[in-house]
Order: sequence, then structure tokens, then C-alpha cells
Amino acid sequence: MSTGSTVRAVTTHRLLEMKQRGEKIAMLTAYDYSMARILDAAGIDVILVGDSAANVMAGHETTVPMTLDNMIYHGRAVVRGVKRALVVVDLPFGTYQGDSKQALSSAIRIMKETEADSVKLEGGVEIIESVERILCAGIPVMGHLGLTPQSIHKFGTYTVRAKEEAEAAKLIADAHALQEAGCFALVLEKIPATLAARVASELTIPVIGIGAGGGVDGQVLVIHDMLGINQEFSPRFLRRYASVGEVMDAAFRNYIDDVKSGDFPNEKEQY
Ligand code: KIV
Repeated sequence: MSTGSTVRAVTTHRLLEMKQRGEKIAMLTAYDYSMARILDAAGIDVILVGDSAANVMAGHETTVPMTLDNMIYHGRAVVRGVKRALVVVDLPFGTYQGDSKQALSSAIRIMKETEADSVKLEGGVEIIESVERILCAGIPVMGHLGLTPQSIHKFGTYTVRAKEEAEAAKLIADAHALQEAGCFALVLEKIPATLAARVASELTIPVIGIGAGGGVDGQVLVIHDMLGINQEFSPRFLRRYASVGEVMDAAFRNYIDDVKSGDFPNEKEQY
């Protein structure tokens, strides 16, 4: 969110108020200026500059290759397009897990170089020192539990997490630990709806779900998935709001035909 405008910007405090009055929070990802502008003007509450950029923007199989410089590039572009939404930027794999000092310097680079509002980290008690250190510097942190894609090589698959009692119990404990550390919100990805609803009702901070059912305080989707740009990805939790991939394909084919036939440009389309 940029300052200096007359628009009433979404803040972490406003998100908390939304939870308190039962108003659902709408969050989507964006990775570039043009998309962020359209999304912000449509009234989205939170824009996540997700490390899913590794998949949908760069074509990687996993989010693991994403670098801090990549995230800063995408974050800066998004922030330039936003007047109202709260902007969250993912800390990519390997920039916060080992050492809380490294985590803080990664988060500071994101805040200084993108001018975003907050950062998101994947994990629970094992990264709590990093979370606390970032928060001590006055940087708002969003947590992320359940299916945490940066750990795909540990999980082995992208299937639903925390179906077993022990993993569910750890997730609940992690969620409380993140809230106690001072996180302003939490993302829960691909876990049973009953577990997600329980976490949302136990926590006072907003819980945003993706593949976590309707009993949470808000929803997030990857923008390319919900727009139907990425046609191959169709998990059960995804609702497709458009077939933009098909619209683009038709436009590209028309353009190619028009260029080849000499129909474009016509007399009015030249100087
Ligand atoms: O990177 C991302 O897009 C995310 C969402 C799936 C929550 O973390």
C-alpha cells in the first residue's frame, strides 16, 4: 500500500477489526504492477507477493529456487500499483530458516527495497526465533502453516496436511506460538476444514485459508489459478472465476492471423 493518497488503506489493525466483526478477508497473489493495479482497484484487502511466482511467473516445479532478489523485484512492482490493499511479501526458501539474524536482514531488505507492509514466513516453532527477531524490528509478520510448499522435499507430495492427530496437534500448537510471538495473521494451506475452523476460532488474529474450508476468517488463491491462466492446475479447493487463458489464446491467434494476412495494421492504425 502506498502512503500519501486519500484512500483509506488496509492495515494489520483493520484486518483484526474485520475478524472481530465477522467480515471475511479477501486476499490474492500478484507479482507485477499491472495486475496489482487492477486487483487493488477491484477492492482486494490483501495482496500477497507469493513465492508461487517461482511456479507461475518463472516456470519452476517448486518454490525452492526463488531468491530474495527475485522477491524484491516482484514486490517493488506490486507496491507501485497499490493504493489501498495491504501488501505482504514472502521470504523465500533459505533466507530465514537457519539464523534469526539472516532472517531479520532478509526482512529488512524486503521492507526497504519494496516498501511493502509486511512479510510472510512458512513454519511454526522451529522458526519462532526468526519471527520474534523480525517483529522486534517493527516488521509485521504473517505466518503460514499446513502445506508449506518450501518444505516440499520433506513432504514429498502436495497432498492435504495434518490429517493425522499428531500433525494436527503440532499445527494447533504452532498456530498459538505464532500468535503469541506477535504475528498479525496466519495462512493455513490445504488442511482439513474442521481443523482450520478450530484454529480460527481459538486464535484472535485473522486466519486466511487456501484449501482449508470456509470456517476461517478469509481466503487466498493464486491469481493465475483463479483466472484460469494456468489451465492444468485444478485441485479440489480451486474455484475458477474466469478462463483468461482461453481469452488470451483466442486473442493471440487472431493477432497472428491478422499479421499474416496483412489485415493488421489497417489505414487508421498507422501514421
Ligand atoms: O506463495 C504463495 O502464493 C502462497 C499462497 C499459496 C498462500 O504462499
